[in-house]
Amino acid sequence: MAEQNRLDGKVCLITGATGGIGLETAKALARLGATPLLVGRDPGRTQAAVAAVREAAPGATVESFLADLASLQSVRELAAAVRARTARLDVLINNAGLIIDRRQVTVDGFEATLATNHLAPFLLTNLLLDLLRASPSARIINVSSQGHRLARLDFNDLQSERGYDGIRVYGNSKLANILFTHALAKRLKGSRVTTNALHPGVVRTGFGLNSQGIFKHLIKLGAPFMLSAERGARTSVYLASSPEVADVSGQYFIKCRPVKPSSAARDDALAERLWQVSAQLTGVQT
Ligand SMILES: NC(=O)c1ccc[n+]([C@@H]2O[C@H](COP(=O)([O-])OP(=O)(O)OC[C@H]3O[C@@H](n4cnc5c(N)ncnc54)[C@H](OP(=O)(O)O)[C@@H]3O)[C@@H](O)[C@H]2O)c1
Repeated sequence: MAEQNRLDGKVCLITGATGGIGLETAKALARLGATPLLVGRDPGRTQAAVAAVREAAPGATVESFLADLASLQSVRELAAAVRARTARLDVLINNAGLIIDRRQVTVDGFEATLATNHLAPFLLTNLLLDLLRASPSARIINVSSQGHRLARLDFNDLQSERGYDGIRVYGNSKLANILFTHALAKRLKGSRVTTNALHPGVVRTGFGLNSQGIFKHLIKLGAPFMLSAERGARTSVYLASSPEVADVSGQYFIKCRPVKPSSAARDDALAERLWQVSAQLTGVQT
C-alpha cells in the first residue's frame, strides 16, 4: 500500500477481530503502522488473534479487549475499558457480525442478530464519539453487506417475534448498519470525524458456519469461489487509511468504490426513526 496510507501512531479499535475479515483488517492496519486494539469475546481466540497480528507486523503495538457484543452491559464495559486505555481514537471499525438460523434472545431481551450487528455498534460508537472527536481526523467504518437489499424492516416487529427468517433478520441488521452510517454522518457534518459503510465481498471466513440447514450448505458449496479474508478486508483497510476518502462521509462502498445502496438505505426518515428507536433501546441520550 502507498506510503501516504501510513497510519503510524493511529489508534484503531476493531470489533470481531478474532477471525475472518476483522483479523485480516487488524493485520493490515498494524502493517501500516497503526496500533490496533482488538475486540474479541473469547479469551483464547482473542489472545491467538493478538499473536497473529504481532507475527504479521513485528514490532507493532497490539492490544485487546474482551466483550460480548450481544450484551449492552458488556458494550458499556468495553467503552469504559477503551477510555481507560486511550484518550484518543483515530479509527473505529464496527466489523463483528453474525447470522443465526433460529431466533435467540440476548440477556437484554433483544433478538440476538439485531443486538449484535446493530445495537452494539450503535451504542459503542456513541459511547466513544468524544474519543473520536479528540483525534485530528477520525474515521468510523461500519461493515455492512449487500444482504441489506433483502431487508424488510418492520418497526412493529423489530425483535422478529412474529416470524423469524434468519437471512431476512440478518439483512435487516445490515440495512440498519447503513442507515446508522447515514444518520451518524449527518450528525458528524462539520466535524473531523467521518463515517462510511461497506460490503466486503463474498468472503471465505467463519461466517454462517455455525448455522444449520441450507445456509451452511450454500456457504460450503460456494467456498471455492469466495474471496480470501485478506481480500475481504481491503475495503475496510482502504476506508481506514486512504487519503482519497479523508473527507468522504455517509457513503456505502464495495471494492473501494462508492456505490448506491438500496432505496431503503437512502431513506432519511427511516434512518432518523431507526436512530431514535435504537437510542431508546440502548439508553443513548440524543
Ligand atoms: N463473509 C462474508 O461473505 C461477508 C459478506 C458480507 C458482510 N460480511 C460482514 O463482515 C463482518 C465480518 O464477518 P466475517 O465474514 O469475518 O465472519 P466471521 O469470520 O464469523 O467473524 C465474525 C467476528 O464477529 C465476532 N462476533 C460475533 N458475535 C460476537 C459477539 N456476540 N461478541 C463479540 N464478537 C462477536 C466473532 O467472534 P468469535 O470468534 O468469538 O465468534 C468474529 O470475530 C460481519 O459484520 C459480516 O456481516 C461478511
